Amino acid sequence: MPEDLRLRVAETEDLTPSVRRFVLVDPAGGSLPGYRSGAHVSVTTPAGHRRSYSLVEPGSRAPRRYVLCVRRDTGGRGGSVSMHDDVAAGDELAVSEPANAFPLRRARRYLFVAGGIGITPVRSMVGELRERGGAAVTVLYLTRSPEETAFLDEFSADGSVVHHSALHGRLDLWPHLAEPDDDARVYCCGPTELVEEVLALTVHWRPSRVHVEDFAGVDPLGGRRLPFTAVWAPTGARVEVGEDTTLLAALGRAGIAVDASCASGTCGTCRLRLLGGEAEHRDLVLTGEERGGFVMPCVSRARSRELVVAPVDDPVTPVDPVGPGGPAPGAPVPGASTRI
Ligand code: FES
Repeated sequence: MPEDLRLRVAETEDLTPSVRRFVLVDPAGGSLPGYRSGAHVSVTTPAGHRRSYSLVEPGSRAPRRYVLCVRRDTGGRGGSVSMHDDVAAGDELAVSEPANAFPLRRARRYLFVAGGIGITPVRSMVGELRERGGAAVTVLYLTRSPEETAFLDEFSADGSVVHHSALHGRLDLWPHLAEPDDDARVYCCGPTELVEEVLALTVHWRPSRVHVEDFAGVDPLGGRRLPFTAVWAPTGARVEVGEDTTLLAALGRAGIAVDASCASGTCGTCRLRLLGGEAEHRDLVLTGEERGGFVMPCVSRARSRELVVAPVDDPVTPVDPVGPGGPAPGAPVPGASTRI
C-alpha cells in the first residue's frame, strides 16, 4: 500500500452549519497525485479514525490541492466529529493517494441523483462534464432545506433541480427513471434509502448503466454472523474468522496485509479475488456480476464453511474444492468488473 501523504490544511470553510470544506495542499508547495472525477481519499483524523471522503473538484492529472467536504454527524462513529472539532488551518493530516470506486464513465446523457452530502462526488463529475461539454447532464440534488444545502448557489444557477424535502415533500424520481436509456448513465450518491429507491426504480435498466455510492457504509459487525475459515490461496494458510471479527481483521492478525480504507464496504479498496466457497456479500461496491469473483473482506463474510481468497493481482491460483458450492480444481475465475 503506498504510504500516506502528509498534507497541510490550507483552508477551512463552513458551507452550512454542519458541512465544512477542507482544502489540503502539499506543505512544500508541489503538485499532488492525480485523480479522476468521483475519486476519494482516506484521511486519518486527529482522533485516529480512518475515513474516506470524496474529492469535490473535477479530476486532474497534477492537482495543486485536494478539496473535500465533511458533514458533522454526531450520530456517526466519530470520524466526522474529529474532522470538525480537531482540525484547523495549518494542521497536517495523513491522507492516502486518491482511489476511485465511483468512476465517471462515458455516455451521451447523464442523470445524477445526489442526496445531502452525496453531492460531493457528483460535483466533481458534473464539473468535469460541464468543462468538457458535449453530454447532456441532469442533476437532481435532494436536501432537507436550503440552509443545509452545500453549494446551493452553484447548483441553483446551473439548471440543476435542487429540491428541499422540508419545503416540498419528497421528489418523485419515477418520471426521470421510467424510460431506460442505453445511451445514458445514472449516478446516485446519498443515504441508503435514496440509493435503494434509485436501484428499485431502475431494475428495468441495464445494470451497467446504473452506478450508486452509499456514503453511510455498512456496519462491519452488524447482523447475524457465523464463524468460518478463510483460506489464503497464495500460501494455503487457514485463518479462522470468529463471529466477533471481520475477514479483513482476521487476515491482518494472521500477518496477511490487505489494503483497506473505509472499513465499511463503500470505497472498494480491500477487494479480494474469491476463488472458492460462497460469500455473504454485504458491501455496497461490487456489481451483481462481480460478486461471483470478488469479495470485500472489510464487511463481507461466508455462507459456506470456508472461503478461498487471494489478492486481486495474484495470478489465478488453482484451489481444491471447498465447502458447498466450491469450484473444481483449476476452474476459471469470473472476470473483473463489467461496468462499461
Ligand atoms: S475498505 Fe473500503 S470497501 Fe473495504
